[in-house]
Amino acid sequence: MTPPSTTPPSRTASDEPPQACGAAVVIGPGGIGSAVAQELQQQGRHGPILCLGRRTEPELDYAQEDSIANSAAWVSDQCAHAGVPLSLLVVATGYLHGAQGQPERSWSHLQADQLAHSFWVNSIGPALIMKHFLPLLPRQGPCAAVFLSAKVGSIADNQLGGWYAYRAAKAALNQLVKTASIEQARRNRQAVVVALHPGTVDTALSAPFSKQGLNVRSSQEAARQIVQVTSTLDASRNGCFIDYQGQELPW
Ligand SMILES: NC(=O)c1ccc[n+]([C@@H]2O[C@H](COP(=O)([O-])OP(=O)(O)OC[C@H]3O[C@@H](n4cnc5c(N)ncnc54)[C@H](OP(=O)(O)O)[C@@H]3O)[C@@H](O)[C@H]2O)c1
Repeated sequence: MTPPSTTPPSRTASDEPPQACGAAVVIGPGGIGSAVAQELQQQGRHGPILCLGRRTEPELDYAQEDSIANSAAWVSDQCAHAGVPLSLLVVATGYLHGAQGQPERSWSHLQADQLAHSFWVNSIGPALIMKHFLPLLPRQGPCAAVFLSAKVGSIADNQLGGWYAYRAAKAALNQLVKTASIEQARRNRQAVVVALHPGTVDTALSAPFSKQGLNVRSSQEAARQIVQVTSTLDASRNGCFIDYQGQELPW
């Protein structure tokens, strides 16, 4: 593996090279997920880096639970083959707008299909990932599962209204993450499971809503920050909702 290309400010040339950390899985190679996988590859702390999505082999599609189970079995085989544990899971799937419609500005725009699809991709799919992938994390030693959420999923922080389906589905995801973090701590006291808000990032998901005044970052910059924050997580952050700078967000 090549040494990290993005050295954290605190690291000096005399420091030891980063300790090998086991395999990493990134689910959802969209704008942010692909950049996170690239950043992990460049950083060289984890290996192998395994990417899974609707266009990978094996395929992982939330519409087919079998594809999630098969992908988890494949990851387990890859880790056994490489002789390393799975130590990092990043779930970067999500849905805001598309064939099912646009985010609702008013309750008059609510549609069952849009609500169902948003819950399917933003909460039910990640819940099935918990079911099939969290058991792959080791029962001893540090390991992390990071589920990309969104600040608009915060109930306490909701001051603007609108975006009913996305907000509600991310709030549901946050509750699923909190619940899984408690179960995971019973399996491994050093494990950490968090919901992470990546900030506003220039991807297909955010493109129609990027406007002046928003701090829109590139997916590469966001990935650097997400990987940096992820590398600092320990069990004291288990069950937290944090942003890309590691700041805790209100539920
Ligand atoms: N971008 C932002 O400004 C922003 C802000 C706050 C939170 N977030 C969150 O960050 C995460 C990543 O967002 P992004 O900006 O990278 O979005 P993106 O580029 O649209 O990527 C979304 C990913 O989700 C996958 N996906 C969608 N439906 C799926 C399904 N049924 N089964 C499996 N995978 C599915 C997509 O797969 P395909 O490639 O096959 O379509 C894609 O890989 C999401 O959770 C999002 O809510 C993003």
